[in-house]
Amino acid sequence: MMIIECSHIAKHYIAPDGNTKIPVLRDISLSVKKGESVAILGPSGSGKSTLLHILGLLDYPSSGSVSMAGRDVTHVPAKDRDQLRNLEIGFVFQLHYLLPQCTVLENILIPTIPKGNSLTAQAALDRGHELLRRVGLGSRLHHRPWQLSGGELQRVAFVRALINSPGLLLADEPTGALDHRTSETLIKVLLDLNKEEQVSLIIVTHAVDFARMMERVFVLEDGELSAT
Ligand SMILES: Nc1ncnc2c1ncn2[C@@H]1O[C@H](COP(=O)(O)OP(=O)(O)OP(=O)(O)O)[C@@H](O)[C@H]1O
Ligand SMILES: [Mg+2]
Repeated sequence: MMIIECSHIAKHYIAPDGNTKIPVLRDISLSVKKGESVAILGPSGSGKSTLLHILGLLDYPSSGSVSMAGRDVTHVPAKDRDQLRNLEIGFVFQLHYLLPQCTVLENILIPTIPKGNSLTAQAALDRGHELLRRVGLGSRLHHRPWQLSGGELQRVAFVRALINSPGLLLADEPTGALDHRTSETLIKVLLDLNKEEQVSLIIVTHAVDFARMMERVFVLEDGELSAT
């Protein structure tokens, strides 16, 4: 089964002058199976974040289509997209977007609150503890974001993205703020979860050695995606 599939995606932005089109993605097709792991490399400004936002139902393509688990979700209304995204997709952004007034534990449990979530409060708490322990944050549960290092914040963002056991995890330069050893630990936790829970991974990274740990590696350049 394809967890996510995009077909002939193009995307342009409109420049601040309100007229000029900025073409970013030209003709992108990508299918990712359940349990597969994919890395996307590419120069700064090549459209990696743009592509990830489209795959994560955070933005719309200018043309082309996106389907999740065989269902065309290109034109589903925003409200339904929100629910799909909350239950099926974990997202780790280039910036962490943790809530400053909440503790680590509270931050990672927020995605378990919305309606439609089948996880009980106790199961969410148990999973939260377990994931935080696995990324080395078992002793930081009650810290607030400003009391954490940059790399710790990034790891909290990962746990938050994984708390609902999504079918798909999208991560945008997840190891940017991390030293090599911590990055490696984190990638290994991700690959373990990929095996254990069949969560599909799509990871944008500049780190070629981590990219190679994924099953398939693509380069995004000049608006096109090519396999390496
Ligand atoms: N909202 C927007 N309006 C106009 N142009 C945009 C907008 N968002 C992104 N762009 C432009 O689109 C291009 C692709 O941006 P994107 O963030 O997808 O690149 P990226 O590959 O993720 O780069 P990086 O590696 O630096 O994160 C950039 O040149 C950027 O300036
Ligand atoms: Mg980016």
